[in-house]
Amino acid sequence: MYRTHTCGELRAQHIGQTVTLSGWVDRIRDHKNATFIELRDRYGLTQIVIDQAASEDVKNAARVLGSEYVIQVVGAVVQRGDKANTKLATGEIELQAHSLTVLNPSRTLPFLPGSSDPVGEEVRLEHRYIDLRRPVMQQTLLLRNRLTKLIRDYMDEHHFVDVETPILGRSTPEGARDYLVPSRVQENCFYALPQSPQLYKQIMMIAGYDRYYQIARCFRDEDLRADRQPEFTQLDVEMSFVDHNDVMGLIDGLMVKLAKEVLGLELQTPLPRMTYDEAMRRFGHDAPDLRFGMEIVDCTALAGQSEFQVFRGVAEAGKFVRGLCVPNGGQLLARRRIDQLTALVKDSYNAKGLAWAKIEEDGQWSGSLAKNFPVAEQSRWNTTMQAKPGDLLLWIADDWAITCKALHGLRKTLGAELKLYDPKSMHFSWVVEFPMFEFDAEEKRWIAMHHPFTAAKDDHVQFLESDPSRARAKAYDLVINGFEAGGGTIRIHDSGVQSLIFKLLGMTPEMAKDRFGFLLDALQCGAPPHGGIALGLDRVVMLFAGLDNIRDVIAFPKTQKATDLMTGAPGTVDDKQLQELRIAMVKTAKSQA
Ligand code: AMO
Repeated sequence: MYRTHTCGELRAQHIGQTVTLSGWVDRIRDHKNATFIELRDRYGLTQIVIDQAASEDVKNAARVLGSEYVIQVVGAVVQRGDKANTKLATGEIELQAHSLTVLNPSRTLPFLPGSSDPVGEEVRLEHRYIDLRRPVMQQTLLLRNRLTKLIRDYMDEHHFVDVETPILGRSTPEGARDYLVPSRVQENCFYALPQSPQLYKQIMMIAGYDRYYQIARCFRDEDLRADRQPEFTQLDVEMSFVDHNDVMGLIDGLMVKLAKEVLGLELQTPLPRMTYDEAMRRFGHDAPDLRFGMEIVDCTALAGQSEFQVFRGVAEAGKFVRGLCVPNGGQLLARRRIDQLTALVKDSYNAKGLAWAKIEEDGQWSGSLAKNFPVAEQSRWNTTMQAKPGDLLLWIADDWAITCKALHGLRKTLGAELKLYDPKSMHFSWVVEFPMFEFDAEEKRWIAMHHPFTAAKDDHVQFLESDPSRARAKAYDLVINGFEAGGGTIRIHDSGVQSLIFKLLGMTPEMAKDRFGFLLDALQCGAPPHGGIALGLDRVVMLFAGLDNIRDVIAFPKTQKATDLMTGAPGTVDDKQLQELRIAMVKTAKSQA
């Protein structure tokens, strides 16, 4: 038997017992009369003591130990010789070793799990087997396990059926590139790894299962960021005979449960809702961080009357002057920082510049812009922007999209920098009624904002053909702390309407039949009204863990370049495998370099 207890288990009540522990050597401290070993496993740490009374065998075995050796210790549980360690669950006791066996030594490691020294992420990912030993990683993965279990219980209580859908399938458009898998048997054909199980779950509704869920792996070949991975996990949900309130209500209940059980937070339901148009107006983004205010103020009307010719010109050209009032920003942000913010809006958001003014004690502006604004006008702007002495006013004068992006970027940056919210707080809300379509300037055509299976709001069906930009969808996104944690829609259940949407998206009837013929057919075979949602499980875990990078909540994540540094994936394959798949490699400048 390797162990009688784990390293997190022993307490004062075990004093006097002889026990066996196995684990990793976390730390060794040599004192004059004794050696102390902290033995670690995923349950905790236990102090092992080897003092003068220990046998020579034990002393000799201890002498050769190194960090991260795997050892087995048999010994007596005794009260700690020194003071009890209140930081440790096992801190009242220690184990006096009677025997010590090395089960497996360890070579010197690039970093130690028990150390708090910072380690570069590449080193951590390359040696993930060590990184995953770190208590913080173990706590995060255990939290993930707990959240998943709570989710499964909740879905089960609400009569959802867990159904697995294929990984090798046909392309389901969610707006990203597909990962393709060549078929050996079917010449010139490829499977696509699912970007989501969207169409399969709709088929499950048509098949009468009423409530489906799956903790589903999804694959998207897209530009990676801190909150995006090429393969990630969704809590994927679909329900029949529901409207948007039913789906949001279900997820409200789930969030109440998770927040209460995991964070001890009482959420009020229904969670607040805001339309997409309102979110863009007030925050410039469809996933606003509502932990703080500093909302966007539209000053276009003031700009139209302004003495300042540049602003007036922008307003007269039908563009926008929108701004932020940064509380105490006049005092907190030096001129140099404002210059950096100007560079940020120019470089990252294509803005032409950043206009600003500081509010002095008497309410008048300082800064280079001030001279263009008579005092009476300054006062009107102050009133509109609710500015007080000490504040900083920032404006972007541009088209709508650029003002949204740049002001959202500024709000996000300054919100964190000026600590406008408690980083431990959590805010849950919904953004609803997204546009059905957005115009893709490159491809010169409409594309679906969520996906092409989304139903329009009942009173907006009329706009689908006449004015697609006006049509709003029965769509809803769950937003937590400024992250899109989930998104869903009520689906089209009428084959004719679905065909119309494909047509509006630029598909010929032949293309639609080729790609989605099975869906169009199924919709004609008794499809119930249905809708659903998918939550990004990795993002939810990240937010509940208080982290800001999803790589830290995934056991084996990929880098920004979509590689696995531990296994070396993606890798090359044998010529034989390529031949079987009839794949010929094309030499590029990069591969020849
Ligand atoms: P959507 O594309 O909005 O909807 O995805 C749902 C949620 O999945 C998460 N997510 C990601 N997480 C990590 N890495 C990624 N690359 C990534 N992409 C998306 C987000 C997002 O909100 N089939 C629809 C759902 C539906 O309509 O029911 C879908 O997949 O948190």
